[in-house]
Amino acid sequence: MEGNPVLKKVLNFQSEKDWKAILSLNEDSNNFDALKLLWAWPSESNLVFLKYILLSHKMAGITSLGCGCGLLEWIIQTYTGLSVIGVEINEQWWKSKYSITPFIPLKYAEKEAFACTSENYALLFCYFNNGNAFREYVRLYSGRMIIIIGPSEGAGRHSDPSPFNPDFGCENWHLGPNQEIKETNDFIAVYFKR
Ligand SMILES: C[S@@+](CC[C@H](N)C(=O)[O-])C[C@H]1O[C@@H](n2cnc3c(N)ncnc32)[C@H](O)[C@@H]1O
Repeated sequence: MEGNPVLKKVLNFQSEKDWKAILSLNEDSNNFDALKLLWAWPSESNLVFLKYILLSHKMAGITSLGCGCGLLEWIIQTYTGLSVIGVEINEQWWKSKYSITPFIPLKYAEKEAFACTSENYALLFCYFNNGNAFREYVRLYSGRMIIIIGPSEGAGRHSDPSPFNPDFGCENWHLGPNQEIKETNDFIAVYFKR
């Protein structure tokens, strides 16, 4: 990962807090090195969309489950000015010499259970891949907004939950606004508690 040319550029731009320049590194969303850092690279209008939804529903921030290296979370945090908490599993891996240094400090699910989420934080799942863990996070969440990013049907990729057919394990959630990420067949779907 250290030899990844996109990572080097991202780190330079991150030190200048230049989220826009970072987005420009994968504008077509098909740069293989970029996709190793983040599965769904948003556009600026996706960030406008997210910020609007969060602010209009008086959210103080986001808790992102399965945030990986936290690049998306750093971008959202820097763009919106809202706090973004990143949660991962396997602390040992993220602290090992094989992993890149995360863009935001990570919290570990095995260590802090669900203590890191609060009611006025939206939950975010970007290309999450564990339906059972998703349902458990939903069960424990006392807030009212869940954001799912992933591929739509027919995209040839997979996430669990998927943006338009998530299995919440209960009937409490309904689909709100949603937006495609550029023309990638990846979508940001916002759900609200009934
Ligand atoms: C496909 S990756 C997506 C990473 C990142 N969100 C992205 O879009 O690039 C899924 C991530 O979910 C994490 N994950 C899997 N189960 C988890 C759990 N129970 N709690 C938190 N993270 C989990 C994995 O470690 C992995 O980093």
